[in-house]
Amino acid sequence: MKILVFTEKPFAPAAVKAIEDVINASGNELEVVERGTRADLLEAVKNAEGLIVRSDIIDAEVMDNAPQLKVIVRAGAGYDNIDLKAATDHKICVMNTPGQNSNAVAELVFGMIVMICRNKYNGTSGSELKGKSLGIYAFGQVGRNVARIAKGFGMNVEALDVFVPDAVIEAEGVKPLHDVNELFSQNQFVSLHIPATPQTKNSIGYDLVMRMPKNGVLINTARKEVIDEEGLIRALEERPDIRYVSDIKPGKAEEFEQKFADRVFFTPKKMGAQTAEANFNAGVAAAEQVVAYLKEGWNKFQVNG
Ligand code: 3PG
Repeated sequence: MKILVFTEKPFAPAAVKAIEDVINASGNELEVVERGTRADLLEAVKNAEGLIVRSDIIDAEVMDNAPQLKVIVRAGAGYDNIDLKAATDHKICVMNTPGQNSNAVAELVFGMIVMICRNKYNGTSGSELKGKSLGIYAFGQVGRNVARIAKGFGMNVEALDVFVPDAVIEAEGVKPLHDVNELFSQNQFVSLHIPATPQTKNSIGYDLVMRMPKNGVLINTARKEVIDEEGLIRALEERPDIRYVSDIKPGKAEEFEQKFADRVFFTPKKMGAQTAEANFNAGVAAAEQVVAYLKEGWNKFQVNG
Protein backbone atom coordinates (compact mmCIF):
# COMPACT_ATOMS: atom_id res chain seq x y z
CA MET A 1 0.00 0.00 0.00
CA LYS A 2 1.32 3.47 -0.80
CA ILE A 3 1.81 5.94 2.02
CA LEU A 4 2.41 9.51 0.91
CA VAL A 5 4.28 12.03 3.04
CA PHE A 6 3.37 15.46 1.68
CA THR A 7 4.90 18.41 3.51
CA GLU A 8 5.17 21.91 2.13
CA LYS A 9 7.46 22.59 5.12
CA PRO A 10 9.82 19.58 5.18
CA PHE A 11 10.74 17.52 8.21
CA ALA A 12 14.42 17.35 9.22
CA PRO A 13 16.26 14.72 7.10
CA ALA A 14 16.74 12.41 10.12
CA ALA A 15 12.98 12.42 10.67
CA VAL A 16 12.33 11.54 7.03
CA LYS A 17 14.82 8.66 7.34
CA ALA A 18 13.07 7.42 10.51
CA ILE A 19 9.65 7.62 8.79
CA GLU A 20 11.12 5.66 5.87
CA ASP A 21 12.40 2.97 8.26
CA VAL A 22 8.97 2.55 9.90
CA ILE A 23 7.15 2.35 6.57
CA ASN A 24 9.70 0.04 4.92
CA ALA A 25 9.59 -2.31 7.91
CA SER A 26 5.82 -2.49 7.59
CA GLY A 27 6.07 -3.65 3.98
CA ASN A 28 4.27 -0.56 2.67
CA GLU A 29 5.61 1.71 -0.04
CA LEU A 30 6.62 5.30 0.74
CA GLU A 31 6.53 8.40 -1.44
CA VAL A 32 7.87 11.65 -0.03
CA VAL A 33 6.93 14.96 -1.65
CA GLU A 34 8.51 17.98 0.02
CA ARG A 35 7.85 21.63 -0.85
CA GLY A 36 5.27 20.37 -3.35
CA THR A 37 2.59 22.45 -5.02
CA ARG A 38 -1.13 21.81 -4.84
CA ALA A 39 -0.90 20.18 -8.28
CA ASP A 40 1.84 17.86 -6.98
CA LEU A 41 -0.40 16.89 -4.07
CA LEU A 42 -3.40 16.20 -6.30
CA GLU A 43 -1.24 13.97 -8.49
CA ALA A 44 0.65 12.13 -5.75
CA VAL A 45 -2.43 11.38 -3.67
CA LYS A 46 -4.17 9.54 -6.53
CA ASN A 47 -3.03 6.05 -5.51
CA ALA A 48 -2.19 6.70 -1.83
CA GLU A 49 -3.90 4.70 0.92
CA GLY A 50 -2.24 6.61 3.75
CA LEU A 51 -1.28 10.29 3.91
CA ILE A 52 0.99 12.13 6.37
CA VAL A 53 0.91 15.93 6.37
CA ARG A 54 1.76 18.90 8.57
CA SER A 55 -0.19 22.16 8.11
CA ASP A 56 -0.91 21.32 4.49
CA ILE A 57 -4.49 21.98 3.38
CA ILE A 58 -6.36 18.74 2.87
CA ASP A 59 -9.84 19.48 1.62
CA ALA A 60 -12.60 17.69 -0.28
CA GLU A 61 -10.86 18.23 -3.62
CA VAL A 62 -7.77 16.36 -2.39
CA MET A 63 -9.97 13.54 -1.08
CA ASP A 64 -11.95 13.39 -4.34
CA ASN A 65 -8.59 12.80 -6.06
CA ALA A 66 -7.67 10.00 -3.67
CA PRO A 67 -10.16 7.16 -4.14
CA GLN A 68 -7.99 4.69 -2.21
CA LEU A 69 -7.22 6.95 0.73
CA LYS A 70 -8.13 5.41 4.10
CA VAL A 71 -6.19 7.41 6.67
CA ILE A 72 -4.69 10.87 7.05
CA VAL A 73 -2.35 11.60 9.93
CA ARG A 74 -1.53 15.19 10.74
CA ALA A 75 2.00 14.99 12.17
CA GLY A 76 1.35 17.55 14.86
CA ALA A 77 -1.39 18.84 17.10
CA GLY A 78 -3.71 21.23 15.24
CA TYR A 79 -5.89 19.72 12.51
CA ASP A 80 -7.73 22.84 11.35
CA ASN A 81 -6.03 22.33 7.96
CA ILE A 82 -8.02 19.16 7.33
CA ASP A 83 -11.67 19.16 6.32
CA LEU A 84 -12.95 16.65 8.86
CA LYS A 85 -16.49 16.50 7.50
CA ALA A 86 -15.22 15.76 4.01
CA ALA A 87 -12.96 13.08 5.46
CA THR A 88 -15.89 11.45 7.25
CA ASP A 89 -17.97 11.65 4.07
CA HIS A 90 -15.11 9.95 2.21
CA LYS A 91 -14.82 7.31 5.00
CA ILE A 92 -11.29 8.46 5.77
CA CYS A 93 -9.96 8.32 9.33
CA VAL A 94 -8.11 11.48 10.43
CA MET A 95 -5.69 11.39 13.36
CA ASN A 96 -3.22 13.82 14.90
CA THR A 97 -0.14 13.01 16.99
CA PRO A 98 -0.87 14.76 20.29
CA GLY A 99 2.06 15.81 22.47
CA GLN A 100 4.82 14.93 20.03
CA ASN A 101 5.88 18.48 19.22
CA SER A 102 4.60 20.28 22.30
CA ASN A 103 7.92 20.83 24.06
CA ALA A 104 9.32 22.46 20.93
CA VAL A 105 6.43 24.93 20.78
CA ALA A 106 6.68 25.65 24.52
CA GLU A 107 10.39 26.38 24.28
CA LEU A 108 9.75 28.83 21.45
CA VAL A 109 7.22 30.66 23.64
CA PHE A 110 10.06 31.51 26.01
CA GLY A 111 12.50 32.19 23.20
CA MET A 112 10.13 34.88 21.97
CA ILE A 113 9.28 36.21 25.44
CA VAL A 114 12.92 36.68 26.41
CA MET A 115 13.70 38.26 23.05
CA ILE A 116 10.92 40.84 23.32
CA CYS A 117 11.67 41.52 27.01
CA ARG A 118 15.30 42.21 26.06
CA ASN A 119 14.16 44.62 23.36
CA LYS A 120 15.18 42.27 20.55
CA TYR A 121 18.75 42.35 21.93
CA ASN A 122 19.29 45.94 20.79
CA GLY A 123 21.57 46.80 23.70
CA THR A 124 19.02 48.76 25.74
CA SER A 125 17.84 47.81 29.22
CA GLY A 126 15.13 45.15 29.23
CA SER A 127 13.17 43.25 31.89
CA GLU A 128 13.16 39.83 33.56
CA LEU A 129 10.54 37.13 33.95
CA LYS A 130 11.14 36.13 37.57
CA GLY A 131 8.16 36.99 39.78
CA LYS A 132 6.00 38.04 36.79
CA SER A 133 2.59 36.57 36.02
CA LEU A 134 1.85 34.30 33.08
CA GLY A 135 -1.64 33.29 31.95
CA ILE A 136 -1.91 30.21 29.78
CA TYR A 137 -4.97 30.04 27.53
CA ALA A 138 -5.71 26.31 27.05
CA PHE A 139 -3.99 23.75 29.19
CA GLY A 140 -3.29 21.00 26.68
CA GLN A 141 0.08 19.46 25.98
CA VAL A 142 1.73 22.73 24.93
CA GLY A 143 0.14 24.70 27.77
CA ARG A 144 1.45 22.18 30.31
CA ASN A 145 4.97 22.41 28.93
CA VAL A 146 4.74 26.20 29.01
CA ALA A 147 3.74 25.98 32.70
CA ARG A 148 6.66 23.68 33.49
CA ILE A 149 9.18 26.01 31.88
CA ALA A 150 7.59 29.15 33.38
CA LYS A 151 8.10 27.75 36.85
CA GLY A 152 11.79 27.37 36.08
CA PHE A 153 11.85 31.10 35.33
CA GLY A 154 10.18 31.76 38.70
CA MET A 155 6.93 33.04 37.17
CA ASN A 156 3.49 32.84 38.78
CA VAL A 157 1.31 30.79 36.47
CA GLU A 158 -2.45 30.73 35.92
CA ALA A 159 -4.39 28.81 33.28
CA LEU A 160 -7.82 28.80 31.72
CA ASP A 161 -9.21 25.69 30.07
CA VAL A 162 -12.89 24.84 30.30
CA PHE A 163 -12.19 21.27 29.21
CA VAL A 164 -9.63 20.51 31.94
CA PRO A 165 -10.67 19.90 35.56
CA ASP A 166 -9.23 22.33 38.13
CA ALA A 167 -7.50 19.46 39.93
CA VAL A 168 -5.45 18.63 36.83
CA ILE A 169 -4.31 22.26 36.53
CA GLU A 170 -3.60 22.52 40.26
CA ALA A 171 -1.57 19.31 40.15
CA GLU A 172 0.91 21.20 37.93
CA GLY A 173 1.23 23.99 40.50
CA VAL A 174 -0.89 26.31 38.34
CA LYS A 175 -3.90 28.35 39.46
CA PRO A 176 -7.04 27.48 37.46
CA LEU A 177 -9.12 30.37 36.14
CA HIS A 178 -12.65 30.28 34.77
CA ASP A 179 -13.02 33.58 32.97
CA VAL A 180 -11.07 34.82 29.98
CA ASN A 181 -11.42 38.43 31.17
CA GLU A 182 -9.60 37.45 34.36
CA LEU A 183 -6.90 35.67 32.39
CA PHE A 184 -6.09 38.88 30.54
CA SER A 185 -6.57 41.36 33.38
CA GLN A 186 -4.48 39.39 35.89
CA ASN A 187 -1.50 38.43 33.80
CA GLN A 188 1.27 40.55 32.32
CA PHE A 189 2.07 37.71 29.93
CA VAL A 190 -0.67 35.76 28.16
CA SER A 191 0.26 32.76 26.02
CA LEU A 192 -2.33 31.42 23.58
CA HIS A 193 -2.71 27.69 23.00
CA ILE A 194 -6.29 27.48 21.81
CA PRO A 195 -7.09 25.69 18.54
CA ALA A 196 -8.65 27.56 15.62
CA THR A 197 -12.34 26.64 15.72
CA PRO A 198 -15.48 28.56 14.74
CA GLN A 199 -15.76 29.52 18.45
CA THR A 200 -12.18 30.76 18.87
CA LYS A 201 -11.63 32.48 15.51
CA ASN A 202 -11.20 36.27 15.93
CA SER A 203 -11.82 35.85 19.67
CA ILE A 204 -8.71 37.68 20.91
CA GLY A 205 -8.99 41.36 20.15
CA TYR A 206 -9.38 44.87 21.47
CA ASP A 207 -11.44 44.22 24.61
CA LEU A 208 -9.27 41.46 26.01
CA VAL A 209 -5.94 43.04 25.14
CA MET A 210 -6.99 46.37 26.65
CA ARG A 211 -7.50 44.53 29.96
CA MET A 212 -3.87 43.51 30.20
CA PRO A 213 -1.78 44.96 33.01
CA LYS A 214 0.96 47.50 32.30
CA ASN A 215 3.66 46.19 29.94
CA GLY A 216 1.48 43.31 28.82
CA VAL A 217 2.90 40.83 26.33
CA LEU A 218 0.63 38.65 24.19
CA ILE A 219 2.29 35.51 22.84
CA ASN A 220 0.67 33.55 20.03
CA THR A 221 2.08 30.17 19.06
CA ALA A 222 -1.41 28.85 18.31
CA ARG A 223 -3.05 30.04 15.09
CA LYS A 224 -3.26 33.46 13.45
CA GLU A 225 -7.01 32.99 12.97
CA VAL A 226 -7.71 33.30 16.71
CA ILE A 227 -6.66 36.96 16.60
CA ASP A 228 -8.98 39.79 15.62
CA GLU A 229 -6.17 41.70 13.93
CA GLU A 230 -8.01 44.99 13.55
CA GLY A 231 -8.92 44.94 17.23
CA LEU A 232 -5.38 44.09 18.25
CA ILE A 233 -3.96 46.90 16.11
CA ARG A 234 -6.36 49.34 17.76
CA ALA A 235 -5.33 48.13 21.21
CA LEU A 236 -1.63 48.45 20.36
CA GLU A 237 -2.28 52.01 19.11
CA GLU A 238 -4.00 52.98 22.36
CA ARG A 239 -1.62 51.11 24.66
CA PRO A 240 2.00 51.83 23.73
CA ASP A 241 3.15 49.58 26.60
CA ILE A 242 1.67 46.42 25.07
CA ARG A 243 3.69 44.05 22.88
CA TYR A 244 2.73 41.16 20.61
CA VAL A 245 4.91 38.23 19.55
CA SER A 246 3.65 35.54 17.26
CA ASP A 247 4.92 32.37 15.65
CA ILE A 248 2.40 32.93 12.92
CA LYS A 249 2.76 35.94 10.65
CA PRO A 250 -0.54 37.84 10.82
CA GLY A 251 -2.47 38.68 7.68
CA LYS A 252 -1.74 42.36 8.43
CA ALA A 253 1.94 41.73 9.28
CA GLU A 254 3.16 44.74 7.28
CA GLU A 255 0.80 47.11 9.07
CA PHE A 256 1.80 45.73 12.48
CA GLU A 257 5.50 46.04 11.66
CA GLN A 258 5.17 49.49 10.20
CA LYS A 259 3.16 50.88 13.12
CA PHE A 260 4.74 49.01 16.05
CA ALA A 261 8.22 48.02 14.86
CA ASP A 262 9.88 47.47 18.25
CA ARG A 263 6.81 46.06 19.93
CA VAL A 264 6.02 43.16 17.64
CA PHE A 265 7.86 40.11 16.37
CA PHE A 266 6.73 37.47 13.89
CA THR A 267 8.55 34.37 12.70
CA PRO A 268 8.66 34.37 8.88
CA LYS A 269 7.17 30.86 8.80
CA LYS A 270 5.49 28.91 11.60
CA MET A 271 8.42 27.30 13.37
CA GLY A 272 7.23 26.28 16.82
CA ALA A 273 7.44 22.61 15.88
CA GLN A 274 10.42 23.07 13.58
CA THR A 275 13.09 21.27 15.61
CA ALA A 276 14.94 18.04 14.90
CA GLU A 277 13.36 16.45 17.97
CA ALA A 278 9.77 17.50 17.24
CA ASN A 279 10.07 16.51 13.57
CA PHE A 280 11.39 13.13 14.61
CA ASN A 281 8.79 12.50 17.31
CA ALA A 282 5.79 13.69 15.30
CA GLY A 283 7.02 12.11 12.04
CA VAL A 284 7.67 8.69 13.55
CA ALA A 285 4.40 8.76 15.52
CA ALA A 286 2.53 9.65 12.32
CA ALA A 287 4.21 6.83 10.39
CA GLU A 288 3.47 4.31 13.12
CA GLN A 289 -0.14 5.45 13.34
CA VAL A 290 -0.72 5.20 9.57
CA VAL A 291 0.83 1.74 9.49
CA ALA A 292 -1.20 0.56 12.50
CA TYR A 293 -4.42 1.92 11.00
CA LEU A 294 -3.82 0.25 7.64
CA LYS A 295 -2.86 -3.01 9.34
CA GLU A 296 -5.46 -3.30 12.07
CA GLY A 297 -7.69 -0.22 12.13
CA TRP A 298 -5.82 1.31 15.12
CA ASN A 299 -7.42 4.73 15.60
CA LYS A 300 -6.65 5.91 19.15
CA PHE A 301 -6.14 9.53 18.08
CA GLN A 302 -8.96 9.79 15.56
CA VAL A 303 -10.39 13.33 15.46
CA ASN A 304 -13.26 12.90 13.00
CA GLY A 305 -16.53 11.04 13.47
C1 3PG B 1 0.87 21.93 15.36
O1 3PG B 1 -0.35 22.18 15.27
O2 3PG B 1 1.28 20.79 15.61
C2 3PG B 1 1.87 23.03 15.23
O3 3PG B 1 1.26 24.23 14.91
C3 3PG B 1 2.97 22.70 14.23
O4 3PG B 1 2.57 22.82 12.89
P1 3PG B 1 3.60 22.48 11.70
O5 3PG B 1 3.76 21.01 11.63
O6 3PG B 1 2.96 23.05 10.49
O7 3PG B 1 4.92 23.14 12.00
